[in-house]
Amino acid sequence: MSVPSDLPVWQELKAHHAAMADLHLRELFAADPARFSTFSRRFGDLLVDFSKHRITGETLGLLIELARQAQLPAWIERTFNGEMVNHTERRSVLHVALRNRSDRPILVNGADVMPGVNAVLEHMRKFADQVRRGKWRGQTGKRIRDVVNIGIGGSDLGPKMVCEALEPYGDPTLRMHFVSNVDGAHISHVLAECDPETTLFIIASKTFTTQETMTNAHTARAWLIKELGDETAVAKHFVAVSTNAEGVRKFGIDTANMFEFWDWVGGRYSLWSAIGLPILVYIGMEHFIELLEGAHAMDEHFRTAPLEENLPVILAMLGVWYIDFFGAASQVTLVYDDYLRSLPDYLQQLDMESNGKSIDRESQPVTVNTGPILWGGLGNNGQHAFYQLLHQGTHLVPADFLAPAHSPNPIGDHHAILLSNCLAQAEALMVGKTEPQARAELEKQGLSGEALEQLLPYKVFPGNRPSTSLFYRHLTPQVMGSLLALYEHKVFTQGVIWNINSFDQWGVELGKQLANAILPELKGDRPAGGHDSSTLGLIAFCRTPD
Ligand code: F6P
Repeated sequence: MSVPSDLPVWQELKAHHAAMADLHLRELFAADPARFSTFSRRFGDLLVDFSKHRITGETLGLLIELARQAQLPAWIERTFNGEMVNHTERRSVLHVALRNRSDRPILVNGADVMPGVNAVLEHMRKFADQVRRGKWRGQTGKRIRDVVNIGIGGSDLGPKMVCEALEPYGDPTLRMHFVSNVDGAHISHVLAECDPETTLFIIASKTFTTQETMTNAHTARAWLIKELGDETAVAKHFVAVSTNAEGVRKFGIDTANMFEFWDWVGGRYSLWSAIGLPILVYIGMEHFIELLEGAHAMDEHFRTAPLEENLPVILAMLGVWYIDFFGAASQVTLVYDDYLRSLPDYLQQLDMESNGKSIDRESQPVTVNTGPILWGGLGNNGQHAFYQLLHQGTHLVPADFLAPAHSPNPIGDHHAILLSNCLAQAEALMVGKTEPQARAELEKQGLSGEALEQLLPYKVFPGNRPSTSLFYRHLTPQVMGSLLALYEHKVFTQGVIWNINSFDQWGVELGKQLANAILPELKGDRPAGGHDSSTLGLIAFCRTPD
């Protein structure tokens, strides 16, 4: 496979798009009363409704054919078989092994990785049990009350998001904190809330070299030693999660308190590994296993279901439809579930770090659009902020709506109001409001003549704005696992279609290199030089004495 637009079906899709471009979702629903049942699927407690997309059966057939012509089934096979699909880093991609709840061996270079995966899981379980039961005590003999995860990117976003999402399953005696930003304000705020005698730090970094994480970790270490007056306290208050045992040792953490993972786990795919330690400490082993099981169920579905029934494939191909044929540059995640407030941030890294690429697997520039600009937030709050653009702006922004049918907080009408807003927004984006409808409303309000004509265009909603609704009965660990694996495989599938490597991230390197050069100049250890006038001017401004 080389250039996706060279595949025969790509041209068919272009022609089909031309025929579909003016068709309104209103017409598609009016023409087919069974549209919802045709274009929705159940997966356990999850309901995925993609009927509000600008597609027909023919569209879906062509998109699935594109997946076939791009050799998606072979790529799935290669990935699950541990082949080196991350070719630029010469690594396998096996986060699926971390949640492999079957007895199936998974091989990397001929060796089964499952015994190692299960051994680390057992190490994590023992440690988490000790913390949760109050057997793991701080230096002064007190039990742990605050757990501070220090990490960034994949070593922060996944664990933070899942701990928030599964709060109803969390140990209420533990307070979970996540420090990521190197801005001293972040760690200062968290440390101010913690009692050193009862605080456990988890230093989470795949490489154990990430500047932000190591800076925050050293600050936390210095704080603890100062507060407890004893360097040996580090052993009782710091553990590490990393692939870099040497780095952990150098930092001063006993490698017996290090939870390892492997280079075939990408940072943004790592919450299932030891990077998930804060999740396990918070929700306990039973629920953590349910999370893994939910993901494993989706992995098995992705690996075995026919492409036309395959949920990650369907969602991926719908994304490709808008990105490459409608020219939609952006997609939005709208969560009607406060527990999922950090999901958009997590998905942003998952999607944009994976598919924000412009060089293909043959080292050539891509000729089609790749990963979208992914953004989003709490849907209900967004209604009063950015939805204006979604409804009446000039950009087509396909949306994902996420909502639970049932809330763990059944207070008055809150949940019904929340859901009614979610359903209404998806409906409004889809149906819009026609000019005759808007005119009739204005007339009913007593407007006529020039006043009516002037106001009328502002009151029209074009509609035809597509969305997927991902609803679930309750936000259980199982549902959470399936949902996240669904998104992971969607991103992978799109990478296959675009013939890019979704598992490297070279684009993060340049900024890191330049920051290393600027740091001594800012600190005054070296005169500033070799930059453009803008950078020099800004450095000079920052160096102005306070
Ligand atoms: O700079 C990007 C990145 O490498 C991400 O891919 C990764 O999730 C994050 O930094 C953190 O990396 P680490 O876990 O090695 O500290």
